[in-house]
Amino acid sequence: MDRRSPSETLLRLLGERSALFVLTGAGVSAESGLATFRGPDGLWEGRDPASLATPEAFARDPETVWRFYAWRRRQARRASPNAGHLAIAALERARPQTDGFLLATQNVDGLHERAGSTRMVRLHGSLWRSRCAAEGVEIDDDRDEFDEFPPRCACGGPIRPGVVWFGEALPEAAWALAERGARACAIAIVAGTSSLVYPAAALPDIAKRAGAYVVEINPEHTPLSDWAHERLAGPAGEILPSLVGPEAHR
Ligand code: OAD
Repeated sequence: MDRRSPSETLLRLLGERSALFVLTGAGVSAESGLATFRGPDGLWEGRDPASLATPEAFARDPETVWRFYAWRRRQARRASPNAGHLAIAALERARPQTDGFLLATQNVDGLHERAGSTRMVRLHGSLWRSRCAAEGVEIDDDRDEFDEFPPRCACGGPIRPGVVWFGEALPEAAWALAERGARACAIAIVAGTSSLVYPAAALPDIAKRAGAYVVEINPEHTPLSDWAHERLAGPAGEILPSLVGPEAHR
């Protein structure tokens, strides 16, 4: 059933400070002004992901790929964390025990970190990292202008964005942590993702099979909507704050 306010069950579980796993996608940054991927105004609308977010595209046309990520760096730099990001950081602070909280995000924009989240894994890498495609060495990198395409590492190898592209494996350690968090939680909150891209989309199912109460926050229906225990149909920036605070922590 679609609802906008949390059920008694969810408020009770939150109030008991039960172990919480949060999975986020582009929708949590929508209210910060960053476009999601799918849907009418999405980044993949009128753009071909295969020409922008694959290793083959980078090998063929590194300039087009880098210009896309440089543009996204500029967008993300101008954006600020919204009430949804801040609420997730507050839910983490309310669970000081190490295994009481984990955030796994598919987002690369850095807004969770800027909102104060620390116990988090980035499943798809970061816009603010780059990697030598030859040596695999990663560096912090916020450049959005380059003298040459692709920019070059000291070793001469091409430097690529530090994100995960279609057809690539997720960072092993990040995935292992996320899977463990999903397995160990009592509540899994899945916010702002279309639940279409695997393996991230498998995490709610892993949590459910391990006995967690699965909550979806999304104004639109997704494949997860059919089997989540609870669906809160609304924007993350409105719904997530309603899970924080005294009324949710009785
Ligand atoms: P999508 O663009 O696929 O889905 C965004 C979801 O957010 C949709 O289900 C929207 O209904 C929902 N949404 C929109 N506004 C919202 C709001 N204010 N509050 C809550 N939800 C809202 O983005 P992801 O699921 O993150 O991968 O996409 C997963 C991966 O596919 C991305 O990491 C990216 C993309 O291609 C790569 O680039 C490899």
